[in-house]
Amino acid sequence: MTDRIIPLLDERVVAVRPPLPHELQAPDGRVADRLGRPLRDLRISVTDRCNFRCTYCMPKEVFDKNYAFLPHGDLLTFEEITRLARVFIDHGVEKIRLTGGEPLLRRSIERLVELLAVLTTRNGRPLDLTLTTNGSILARKARSLVDAGLKRVTVSLDALDDAVFKRMNDVDFPVTDVLDGVQAAAAAGLAPIKINMVVRRGVNDQEIVPLARHFKGSGHILRFIEFMDVGSTNGWRMDDVLPSAQVIQRLDDAFGVEPLDPNYVGEVAERWTYRDGSGEVGVISSVTQAFCRDCTRARLSTEGKLYLCLFAQRGYDLRNMLRTGASDAQMSTALGRIWQGRGDRYSELRSDETVRAKKIEMSYIGG
Ligand code: GTP
Ligand code: 5AD
Ligand code: SF4
Ligand code: SF4
Repeated sequence: MTDRIIPLLDERVVAVRPPLPHELQAPDGRVADRLGRPLRDLRISVTDRCNFRCTYCMPKEVFDKNYAFLPHGDLLTFEEITRLARVFIDHGVEKIRLTGGEPLLRRSIERLVELLAVLTTRNGRPLDLTLTTNGSILARKARSLVDAGLKRVTVSLDALDDAVFKRMNDVDFPVTDVLDGVQAAAAAGLAPIKINMVVRRGVNDQEIVPLARHFKGSGHILRFIEFMDVGSTNGWRMDDVLPSAQVIQRLDDAFGVEPLDPNYVGEVAERWTYRDGSGEVGVISSVTQAFCRDCTRARLSTEGKLYLCLFAQRGYDLRNMLRTGASDAQMSTALGRIWQGRGDRYSELRSDETVRAKKIEMSYIGG
């Protein structure tokens, strides 16, 4: 076996170990953080591995054969994830998103979907259970995911042109396979599907209008994401960001679009519709119009660290609590306290200094 190099300043090891609480507090589903934001959304990363090397997320120079991905024993088991999911639901979580890395690479992911799909919110409604995938093996997996109880899916797709798509994924993966995955998912019952395109000015922005044309009238919802300064490896510069206002301008020039009201408070995407009634598109503008004010999202890393922001520098080690015998009531009390202490609002505070700070990688924490 080759030696694995573990970087000295590995942000994954910077963790807070919450003490086991002695005085217990029953959750009432209304926990609020320091800015009054409730906990509604849990995003769970099920693997830190991916078969793509998108230059903005897992650049090859860093994520090469020497990169130390997490060993299997470090990952939360499906039972541990489900147990934690219940604790989060008790505090008011209504939506769970499985992410990665590439979540469909986690062996037997369908079994986790099965375990989560039967959970209900505090109000007795089914959980909004979804998954973000790069679509590479979705054609193969769509049917079994639906059988396991998955209701919807979001597919990342950064270009329609094969050459541009291959340049983005950097592993020569053909775009037709992802498009087949989208079709298979729709046929299996996962429609309407959300398609997410990360826009990098000068790299794939010429694909905005072609992708919009492709999905216009399909019933699927394409969303354009401003390239963000997540992690510390993607060499982000403000010059790489194409502001959403310009995306909308291009869509308006090409097709004619008008704004729609949000579906709910704190919705990440701003919704637009084609004037001719042929469907919805969206923009996600975390750089030019931060949406921290209503951020209700918590993130659980592959090995069980809780992050309170996509740009956080440290996580709370929940796995250690689980594996040292904490009861559900202790877990719940600890989670409530952690959330009450949350004041994160990175995108609102972004500055030259924060851009340079060491942050967790998106491949580790998921989108
Ligand atoms: P839906 O309910 O399916 O619409 O999910 P969503 O609106 O949460 O969107 P999704 O999970 O697909 O997120 C799309 C992209 O928005 C992610 O890949 C990120 O780039 C960005 N994003 C999502 N959540 C956050 C967040 O909390 N902060 C920031 N800065 N960006 C986010
Ligand atoms: N900026 C914006 N979105 C990103 N994603 C990954 N890296 C970035 C970034 N730097 C999103 C993409 C991807 C999902 C997993 O996370 O939508 O498809
Ligand atoms: Fe993989 Fe998604 Fe990151 Fe691309 S953006 S490397 S598909 S996790
Ligand atoms: Fe939430 Fe942090 Fe994103 Fe702001 S930057 S919306 S606080 S995850």
